[in-house]
Amino acid sequence: MKTRALFIALALLLGTGHEPGAVVKAAEAGSAILPGNPLEGSQLFTDKGCLRCHAINGVGGVGGPELGQGILKRSLLDIAGVMWNHSPGMAHVIEERHVARPVFKAPEMASLLSFLYYIGSFDAPGDAATGERLFREKQCQTCHSLGGKGGKHGPALDNYSKYASPIYLSVGLWNRGKAMAGVMEALKISRPTFERNNIPDLFAYIRSFGRSVERIYAQPGSPRNGEKLFVAKRCVECHSVTPQGDPTRANLRARLIKGSLMTIAGAMWNHGPHMWGDMARRGIPMSPLTTEEMSDIIGYLYFLQFIDPPGVAERGRMVFQEKRCGQCHGSSEKGAPQGADFAKSDKLKTKSEKLRTQLEVVTEMWNHASTMEEKMLKESLEWPVFRGGEMADLMAYLVSLRAGK
Ligand code: HEC
Ligand code: HEC
Ligand code: HEC
Ligand code: HEC
Repeated sequence: MKTRALFIALALLLGTGHEPGAVVKAAEAGSAILPGNPLEGSQLFTDKGCLRCHAINGVGGVGGPELGQGILKRSLLDIAGVMWNHSPGMAHVIEERHVARPVFKAPEMASLLSFLYYIGSFDAPGDAATGERLFREKQCQTCHSLGGKGGKHGPALDNYSKYASPIYLSVGLWNRGKAMAGVMEALKISRPTFERNNIPDLFAYIRSFGRSVERIYAQPGSPRNGEKLFVAKRCVECHSVTPQGDPTRANLRARLIKGSLMTIAGAMWNHGPHMWGDMARRGIPMSPLTTEEMSDIIGYLYFLQFIDPPGVAERGRMVFQEKRCGQCHGSSEKGAPQGADFAKSDKLKTKSEKLRTQLEVVTEMWNHASTMEEKMLKESLEWPVFRGGEMADLMAYLVSLRAGK
């Protein structure tokens, strides 16, 4: 598999352009982990050899499980936990095939985990036949024409067939949504809503009217820019995004926006009338979005679930005990500990300045996993397995130990 092949295969799947963007700069807590370009980690996925054993939506190697279909749609530290859980199973295959076990720098780990999360955002390819049916059933045809056939209340939609991604359609719907709703009301046509894969299906049908054209690609959305736009476009005045929320604003995090990108675009559309009403009351103008802005905002909303809720150090101390990390790490009373005490820096294998943040600690945990596995085998200790939220608590605890030293 050529290095760039996966990147390009995924870019085509998404209908995005082929150029990887700026390097993901990983910082610590909260929104600072939002990637600039979530596709970027696909290069690490190839370069670090993951692609030899894992396929994503059918592209890649065999030996490990297929990682597409959103099986890794969890927060950053939970995905790190899944990787850790499977480390011995992976190590076994790595040994058999004589490939090197991949190690990471912390920003690389963040970039890779963002990518693994991002895979879950891909819309299933649209189905033109379903789209044709929806175009009729949702009455688009009553007002819009395609290939010269259909109504004339709205503009012909053939123009959209030159695009490669349904994001363009979602932008047209969003920007013209209010005007469209007015015409619908006048004609007594009930306003359609979009579920599941409706938008990609409709788009596939529209696209079938422009068979031989050169497609126009979009860039993958930047969740990091999306966060800024969410403030600039005043979404933040009506929506909160933190896990604890705010009773005066509709929380977009608690609602678990778990769908693919176009399901999120559909959810935005569906709430249009409710939203416009609120906007009028609060004097917020409906500002149109460019394609890039729409991609960034949807990417941001998708990535809200990637941010771990803050871990609790006190719970993490219990995880540390339960998983028996203390058997080797820390000032064990019985016998000489083999791993270093996290509260002291002198015996750590990793340079101590690299163990300051949760991301750094979880990265080094992965990097040292094979040595730990050997030692655990010798001591007949079972490989510790993490469930949802445990890794965040453990990391909060370890970072608090590091800060205390
Ligand atoms: C030599 C083959 C091999 C390589 C290289 C490899 N893996 Fe795996 N991976 C496996 C196998 C085998 C499993 C299943 C192990 C198990 O279930 O215990 C697995 C499991 C996983 C899982 C858990 C999947 C699930 O459904 O729970 C994740 C996530 C994962 N690998 C990610 C990666 C990433 C990221 C890389 C590159 C840094 C990588 N793997 C490199 C073979 C490999
Ligand atoms: C009641 C008539 C009506 C129905 C039904 C309707 N539209 Fe529209 N649509 C319009 C009108 C009118 C406009 C132009 C609004 C404006 O003036 O900004 C429009 C604009 C659009 C645009 C933007 C076009 C552009 O050139 O920017 C898109 C995309 C679109 N509609 C898609 C759809 C789809 C998909 C459906 C079915 C789910 C649909 N419309 C159903 C009347 C309708
Ligand atoms: C004036 C207030 C207001 C503004 C500004 C606003 N919204 Fe909303 N939004 C709402 C309301 C009200 C709902 C419906 C909530 C409900 O159903 O309880 C909603 C619903 C949504 C939903 C659907 C949530 C779901 O659970 O399905 C999304 C997504 C959304 N808004 C995104 C945005 C984005 C992105 C922006 C900025 C471009 C924005 N909103 C700006 C008031 C607003
Ligand atoms: C059987 C002994 C053993 C157990 C149990 C163990 N470790 Fe380790 N750990 C080690 C050893 C030995 C090293 C140094 C590895 C090396 O030399 O590569 C290490 C290294 C580390 C590192 C990198 C720090 C450094 O020294 O650079 C982290 C982080 C870590 N372990 C976390 C954990 C956590 C969290 C647990 C519990 C889930 C755990 N370990 C359980 C033996 C163990």
